[in-house]
Amino acid sequence: MFLEINHLDAYYGRLQALWDVSVAIDKGEIVALIGSNGAGKSTFLKSIAGSIRRLNGEILFDGRNIAGLRPDKVVRAGIVMSPEGRQVFPRLSVQENLRIGGFVHKNSDLEAGYERVYELFPILKERASQAAGTLSGGEQQMLAIGRALMGQPQLLMLDEPSLGLSPLFTEKIFELIMEIQKQGVTIILVEQNAVMALSIADRGYIIKNGHVVESDTGAKLLESPDVIDNYLGRA
Ligand SMILES: Nc1ncnc2c1ncn2[C@@H]1O[C@H](COP(=O)(O)OP(=O)(O)OP(=O)(O)O)[C@@H](O)[C@H]1O
Ligand SMILES: [Mg+2]
Repeated sequence: MFLEINHLDAYYGRLQALWDVSVAIDKGEIVALIGSNGAGKSTFLKSIAGSIRRLNGEILFDGRNIAGLRPDKVVRAGIVMSPEGRQVFPRLSVQENLRIGGFVHKNSDLEAGYERVYELFPILKERASQAAGTLSGGEQQMLAIGRALMGQPQLLMLDEPSLGLSPLFTEKIFELIMEIQKQGVTIILVEQNAVMALSIADRGYIIKNGHVVESDTGAKLLESPDVIDNYLGRA
């Protein structure tokens, strides 16, 4: 297994947000994580990214336990997160935002990074010197994904990339996610838009109150009664 998470518990102080979560991901897959508000989806990604201080369990990445590693070390190991709410730096230019995503790499590697991002998202090239805060919501989402790609991840974690976007832009973002998968990047996709996410995902996990309650192929989950009742109305 490329990424294997065994019996993960995560806490904010005394509050336990994840309970005995086990997830396994193969190289090259898109794995969707579906759940309602507060279910623990972002906590799961933050646990892998190294920004939750109190954890139990194992996070094996290429066989090495990375649980508790500092965030910058996780990025160096090849795992990058595009956070919920995009979190671009509004006063910095598009290219300066991208540069920050490449912080673990040598300056000489940045050019290839910009080129790759600008090829995927030509609009960002047109806006390269514009302040990121002046971009539309959809463009800012592209920038957030582009910034993550600048870290040259083997595993890309996307936290609600479609949040607040129009259906047209959402579709575009999902097409680009599939394109990134084709480039050989493994992807964890956190979404409330269960229909879209499960449609492009190889497999998915349903998380409820900090517990994994169901997991299957994307296609099978789209037919699961629990998923139909609880998550498919949101798209
Ligand atoms: N920094 C924090 N300090 C304390 N509790 C937190 C913190 N962040 C999240 N929580 C709590 O942990 C639980 C899981 O939150 P999390 O953000 O992982 O949910 P989520 O599934 O990403 O929800 P959403 O769909 O709203 O983004 C919630 O009960 C939340 O209130
Ligand atoms: Mg969240």
